[in-house]
Amino acid sequence: MALAPSTTADYCNWDPDDASFPEEFAWGASTAAYQIEGGWNADGKGPSVWDTFTHRAGERVFENQTGDVACSSYALWEEDLKCIKQLGLTHYRFSLSWSRLLPDGTTGFINQKGVDYYNNMIDSLLANSVTPMVTLYHFDLPQCLEDQGGWRSSVTVEAFEAYAQFCFKTFGDRVKLWITINEPYVVAELGYEKGTMAPGVKEPGTGAYLSAHNMIKAHAAAWQTYDKEFRKRQGGLVSIALNSDWAEPLHPNSPDDQEAAKRHIGFCLDWFATPIFLNGDYPDIMKSKISAISKKQGYPSSRLPEFTEEEKMAIRGTADFFAVNYYTARKIKHQDYACCQPSTTGDKEAEQVTDPSWPVATGSSWLAVVPWGLRHLLKYIKDTYNHPIIYITENGFSQSDPAPLDDSQRWEYFRLTLQEILKAIYIDNVQVKGYFVWSLLDNFEWTCGYSSRFGLFHVDFENAALPRVPYKSAIEYAKVIANNRLMDSQG
Ligand code: GAL
Repeated sequence: MALAPSTTADYCNWDPDDASFPEEFAWGASTAAYQIEGGWNADGKGPSVWDTFTHRAGERVFENQTGDVACSSYALWEEDLKCIKQLGLTHYRFSLSWSRLLPDGTTGFINQKGVDYYNNMIDSLLANSVTPMVTLYHFDLPQCLEDQGGWRSSVTVEAFEAYAQFCFKTFGDRVKLWITINEPYVVAELGYEKGTMAPGVKEPGTGAYLSAHNMIKAHAAAWQTYDKEFRKRQGGLVSIALNSDWAEPLHPNSPDDQEAAKRHIGFCLDWFATPIFLNGDYPDIMKSKISAISKKQGYPSSRLPEFTEEEKMAIRGTADFFAVNYYTARKIKHQDYACCQPSTTGDKEAEQVTDPSWPVATGSSWLAVVPWGLRHLLKYIKDTYNHPIIYITENGFSQSDPAPLDDSQRWEYFRLTLQEILKAIYIDNVQVKGYFVWSLLDNFEWTCGYSSRFGLFHVDFENAALPRVPYKSAIEYAKVIANNRLMDSQG
């Protein structure tokens, strides 16, 4: 068995293709309820903000597409299970549709059909020796809660706590890996600041901060509930999935750009990770920048809300592992926005560009392919957050539609990324315990609809049977999983 280099000298000759991943490495793929399930109003499911957003006429989603049917996983779970088995996944990460379980978002009414659906999924995964990692909320807030202010309101914090408790009680005898919220940054920034994603709220300079504030409180409340009521009996782990780009200064020797690059990560990853993993409060750089700029703009106090001392105590230390979603990197340039209208971008005083030499995934103009950025980000998390256990809960590359089944170029991106993870593990000594490809299937890629294909399996959305067919990447990924290393065992 190929091992890690044991001395520094060995690193010179060390080839990640000769190294094995650690024993019991979690090999996964991820999905999210709204993106795959369909059955948007089946069997008593209540509407979510994404149902409302896609049904409202307009040009917010590619060709006005919706997730009404998507991959129809609500009806075709057995087909998804076949894909999972074909890959040989050890782990499958999926999300629960909050409004399928609790149609109005509260435990006042429980939709048993929804409970049955997820019970069947969980049981069949376990029967096939696949460990479920379950996300409670992946962008699809129940519409009834949005009608009461959504994440801008403490009503949603309380409803989330009760929903989490209900899920731990109902599924926690079998689910041992929980993610409370997927990418609160994206929800805050695109859902409540820019309004380009559901619920489409445009409140620049305040909406993101307020919604993030409540999501952090909701996450912490769910973790505390697990810790007090379930951990002893169920023995599971609870975290939150945070996304981040890697950031490099545009001009490496410019101190201004160096600081701006730090702020790019500070105003995204650290915004959530500092309170949750370190001290219950926002990063100092966010507090000082937002306060100073708010003042210049004539606000009586900072647009960034404050946590009380009691809240800080309840927030710090509320994650049992670090879950990170990584897709891309940016070059960052200092930009003075202080005179402009309030916005999170203005507060950050950083402008992002991509390096023209970086390839771009054909299905997503934002996705510059920078595998080495992941290694840097992992090292950053290790150094900043006390060497936590890390799961990479999403990473992937999209193809545009029509997407060839022979996606050799995309597999090359995956291979390079896996090499960087091996370097992070063996050279940088980062505790990476698992890797989840986004996504198991081609699916509803939010505002890009079905035009952007992230799946390991191709889905033909023109065919009513929605057949799943493996891309070359799926076949290659299955080999890596079987061998627990990049080259096959003979290699
Ligand atoms: C993430 C998100 C996923 C998926 C992916 C690819 O931000 O969690 O749902 O859409 O991006 O864009």
